[in-house]
Amino acid sequence: MQQTPDELRHIEALLDFYAGSGVDCFLGDEPADWFELTRQQAEQRHKAHPPASQPVSRLQAGTPMPQAGVLAGGYQAPPSGAPMAGGQGTASGQSAVLPDREVIAAARDMASSAASLDELRACLEAFEGCNLKLTAKKLVFADGNPSAKLMFVGEAPGRDEDLQGKPFVGRSGQLLDRMLEAIGLDRSAAYIANVVPWRPPGNRTPTPQETEICKPFIKRQVELVNPDVLVFLGAASAKTLLGVQDGIRKMRGRWMTYPVGGRDVAAIATYHPAYLLRSPLEKRLSWRDFLAIRQKLQTGAER
Ligand code: URA
Repeated sequence: MQQTPDELRHIEALLDFYAGSGVDCFLGDEPADWFELTRQQAEQRHKAHPPASQPVSRLQAGTPMPQAGVLAGGYQAPPSGAPMAGGQGTASGQSAVLPDREVIAAARDMASSAASLDELRACLEAFEGCNLKLTAKKLVFADGNPSAKLMFVGEAPGRDEDLQGKPFVGRSGQLLDRMLEAIGLDRSAAYIANVVPWRPPGNRTPTPQETEICKPFIKRQVELVNPDVLVFLGAASAKTLLGVQDGIRKMRGRWMTYPVGGRDVAAIATYHPAYLLRSPLEKRLSWRDFLAIRQKLQTGAER
């Protein structure tokens, strides 16, 4: 049915209103029981490919990832246009992927095959195994200096980062810049990345599955940068990469180590700048952490 110009204007105004209210993805009209659908799909897959005859797919860098909907191992995604796992949908009607072991295995293989940061970025551009890519505007790979001794790892990009394709460029990024400046550094002396390189819709926390899928890429990114000092911005990145369970209050300010290619890299967690924006009194503890980081860069961390 053809819409009249008036109807089109109304639809446009309504969409504008939704966008202005922070809506950035569409859900289906009917609720879907993804637990049940996933179970049925796993059952069908199991019937079609009994485990012994279904080796885990090994993808190489440069090998195009199967499109969402036709994953390695014959996995079928939800019907086209349906909401994604985790309740997200795509405005484009593109069907989504559900994370499973094959996707994580593919992520590991792709990440480990990258011999340089450029190759790793290309792998992520080609990777279709993470739902977040469908709603994000841009891949947020990294900013700063790939040869820096200092590397920061955050959790996931927000709106500004998604628009610019660079990590920590919004308000929390500006605070991070000021904190760097306070110890005599700027982005040319640091490399900055996130555990998850695509913005979760509405800035929600990445799900454990999304984090697991993206983990091999950030691990490889740390290996390729090979910093002397690794700083986790907030508990989430420290928990993901170090496997620790402590909260940030307990963890921050303590030197730990992170293994990179047989070397123990000095690692520390500090408050996330977004938390500091909400709790400015805690800046004094962050200041201590940044002084310790400067000290470590000057004296303690040797290759
Ligand atoms: N928060 C993060 O963890 N990363 C960003 O890039 C921006 C905000």
